[in-house]
Amino acid sequence: MLPCPQWRERRYHSNWLALQSFGPLCAIRGTGRKGSYVADYTANIEAAQQQFAAVLEQQLARVERLNVGQEPTDFSKISPIIVGVIGGDGIGPAITAQAQRVLEYVLSQQVDAGRIEFKPIEGLTIENRAEKLQPIPDDVLEQIKQCHVTLKGPTHTPEQGDGWPNIESANVAMRKALDLFANVRPVRIPAEGIDWTFFRENTEDLYAVGSQGVNVTSDLAIDFRVITTPGSRRIIEAAFSHAKRTGKTKVTVVTKANVVKTTDGKFLDVAREVAQQYPEIEWDGWYIDIMTAKLIDTKRRNEFQVLVLPNLYGDILTDEAAEIQGGVGTAGSANIGSRYAMFEAIHGSAPRMVKEGRAQYADPSSVVRAGGMLMEHIGFPEQAAKLYKALDICGQYERSVVLTGRDTGATGEAYSDYLMETIQAPDLDERWERYVNDK
Ligand code: IPM
Ligand code: MG
Repeated sequence: MLPCPQWRERRYHSNWLALQSFGPLCAIRGTGRKGSYVADYTANIEAAQQQFAAVLEQQLARVERLNVGQEPTDFSKISPIIVGVIGGDGIGPAITAQAQRVLEYVLSQQVDAGRIEFKPIEGLTIENRAEKLQPIPDDVLEQIKQCHVTLKGPTHTPEQGDGWPNIESANVAMRKALDLFANVRPVRIPAEGIDWTFFRENTEDLYAVGSQGVNVTSDLAIDFRVITTPGSRRIIEAAFSHAKRTGKTKVTVVTKANVVKTTDGKFLDVAREVAQQYPEIEWDGWYIDIMTAKLIDTKRRNEFQVLVLPNLYGDILTDEAAEIQGGVGTAGSANIGSRYAMFEAIHGSAPRMVKEGRAQYADPSSVVRAGGMLMEHIGFPEQAAKLYKALDICGQYERSVVLTGRDTGATGEAYSDYLMETIQAPDLDERWERYVNDK
């Protein structure tokens, strides 16, 4: 018989009658150390322990790989640079095709000279993923790995009960498979002095083993949150070095370390350590709840510059930030690793628009902006800067061609033509300055 600790007697005092049917109190199965319960969960606990052990083994191997590190790709030495274009699902193929047109136009010299090559990648559709029961079918992953960088349209992420097999998100799988650890999401509203760059950690946190949680019983579900020292260090370093390189003066670290003490505590500890190597950059720590409030505080929000945060907080905060910029359809997202990089829209695949025959009216801005980040990443920042200015003029200020998502507005193709016209206008810079300063 197991010892019967006093606290358990106290805790169950009011339930005494209910427990009588299970026999005397001290016959409750389980120990005080483990908690008090009446049924026999030995098999459930053992199964959960085994699953946890498998997660630990996998993550320990991953930490070892992270500790070895990898040299970043030097694009100036690569020719041709292969840019894979992944249409994805829903409105993805329509908006990605427009983004490719704009990119080919802006980089026409490099394309003509054979320095850059675009390569279509088929098969990252929900139908194909569901058929193969793989978040990224093997042959598609192989094609992706043959490219140096990819531009990706949205891909449907199944959830329990939506009719598709509940496979892992293609985005999450790609970030992990290619170790794309930095999710960089800029949000700018020049007229309001807002210039934020989010460095969202992209491979850890609740996402790392988000599809490997345990249903211990039909009533108890447990997920695992993974934060590692090298994983935190590389994203925090990326944020600080970006701040230094781009003349920013402040980095904001966002956690909930007061409550989520072990994992967020580690992230914050690593931030303290990294910050010491950048004495010229000021840094502060904020909790995610108050951070979401401060992003809509018009008196404070333009003080934030570079923000670095674990995966899920970054997922949420960047949607809020994009909405402030004009909607999630206006933001782009870079998923950067040492070797590979993938650039994508941050919104979903809008299957309803396709069902209603409106795909051609979808806004391509988010994936075009992602294309701008791709150009910056592979060494064409001037071309990217022109593209960003055109996106600001066409989407925020001049708005001569307006998308409404339906036939009351322009098509994505007409909007892309408008973007290309704006990019090539000789007075692009003056026009942009005028709009930004007049507001
Ligand atoms: C994003 C998206 C993805 C994420 C989804 C589609 C899995 O919301 O890129 O922000 O949660 O990371
Ligand atoms: Mg998101």
